[in-house]
Amino acid sequence: MLRERCGGLPLSSLKYYLWNIGCQMNQADARRLAEALDVRGMTATRSPEEARVLLLNTCVVRQSAEDKVLGRMASLQSLASDPAASRILLVMGCFVDDPVLMAERYPYVHGFFLPSDLRGVLSHIDAWLGVVPPSADAVSAPAQVNESVAISYGCDHHCTYCIVTDRRGAQRSRPLQEIVREAADLVARGAREITLLGQNVDAYGSDLPEGTDLADVLCAVHEIPGLLRLRFLTSHPREMSQRIIDTAAALPKVCPSWELPAQSGDDTVLRRMARGYTSAHYRDLVRRIREARPDAGINTDIIVGFCGETEGQFENTVALVRDLCFDQVHLAAYSVREGTAAAHWLDDVPPEEKERRRLVIEGLQTEIATARNAALLGEVVPVLVESRQRGRWRGRTPTNKLVFFQDPANWRGVLADVRITWTGPWSMIGEVVNKRDEPSDKTA
Ligand code: SAH
Ligand code: F3S
Repeated sequence: MLRERCGGLPLSSLKYYLWNIGCQMNQADARRLAEALDVRGMTATRSPEEARVLLLNTCVVRQSAEDKVLGRMASLQSLASDPAASRILLVMGCFVDDPVLMAERYPYVHGFFLPSDLRGVLSHIDAWLGVVPPSADAVSAPAQVNESVAISYGCDHHCTYCIVTDRRGAQRSRPLQEIVREAADLVARGAREITLLGQNVDAYGSDLPEGTDLADVLCAVHEIPGLLRLRFLTSHPREMSQRIIDTAAALPKVCPSWELPAQSGDDTVLRRMARGYTSAHYRDLVRRIREARPDAGINTDIIVGFCGETEGQFENTVALVRDLCFDQVHLAAYSVREGTAAAHWLDDVPPEEKERRRLVIEGLQTEIATARNAALLGEVVPVLVESRQRGRWRGRTPTNKLVFFQDPANWRGVLADVRITWTGPWSMIGEVVNKRDEPSDKTA
């Protein structure tokens, strides 16, 4: 714990409010921030009124996310401006493009930080509190069952609809040894599953002199004793090599679960999105993944109503979704993002038509997911148990499907064999039939 110097108050009485939205990278950053503040002896609160430190980790990938960020900032403005309360409001993430300009525009915010600038946020808090930051080895808090490790930041693609490159910059791959060290530390602290994160993990290493790629990272992290499962996301259809497919398929700890955004099933739309592949290439990739791992779960991202998308082009996307039987589709209606190439084009698909297209794919995918999950009824599947939720244990199958079951023992962090007794499109229920690891002490 740190020296306690905040106006004589013990740091343990100092509360922080951390609000996060967005991608897995943001979720991972938020976890790290919370952990670092906990190490400083502070406590989390869900009530901004109780907190002295207000932290927003933001996303603007779609207009709906940006609206939420603006709403949250507005709702905190009076708390942050109250001179009697001695409170700070810090904003980090993809909302922040130019910290200096933003500070002028939102004077009630005490600091703006670029995406993943954890160091910047923590230094600001330490300076404000007047505390000495803890040394790195002071971080010994227990890890979650499933933790994530960023293997690269930023993205070298310039998809014409996407603001991520503008906000997160060009790709910066982390050195392999650093990734392995961080993953091994998390496993030593209790993590059982590691998810390797990047905007485009298949391009990992293209900016490094060593010539390492994602397959090398998978092999190296796979060796960590005590690790049960390894995942990676997000993949890019253009850079996913056969070597990556074969390596992932062959390593027993690597889950057969792929996050492979298609965005569209139409070649003209894909070209205008600057995705760098055709629908035929995407279909072939899915075929090759399933050839290497017939049990593969494949999830995708789809945007409907991109500028100029005709009914026929949309139908090609419907056909892709119908033919490839994805496990999950992350679906979005296109929204204009200032600063992207497509922002100069006519956003000509009316909102009601975008919504109609969204509902068509949503309905189709619900049917597909329902059928795919129903095929697991009566099957025994390995479930890594993450947490307890409303009296039930909650875990995931290798293909990342949510499974709930009831049992009095403590199953947290245990790999359990679960027989599936009920399935729906988004989750399943089962009963434990076997213990791959012995559960620890009993709970009520
Ligand atoms: N490399 C990341 C991309 C992050 S953006 C990944 O592949 O996940 C996450 C998703 O948001 C994209 O895949 C895309 O489907 C969606 N998206 C991005 N920009 C969008 C926009 N302007 N309108 C609607 N959806 C968008
Ligand atoms: Fe965005 Fe395309 Fe990269 S969706 S994050 S520019 S791969």
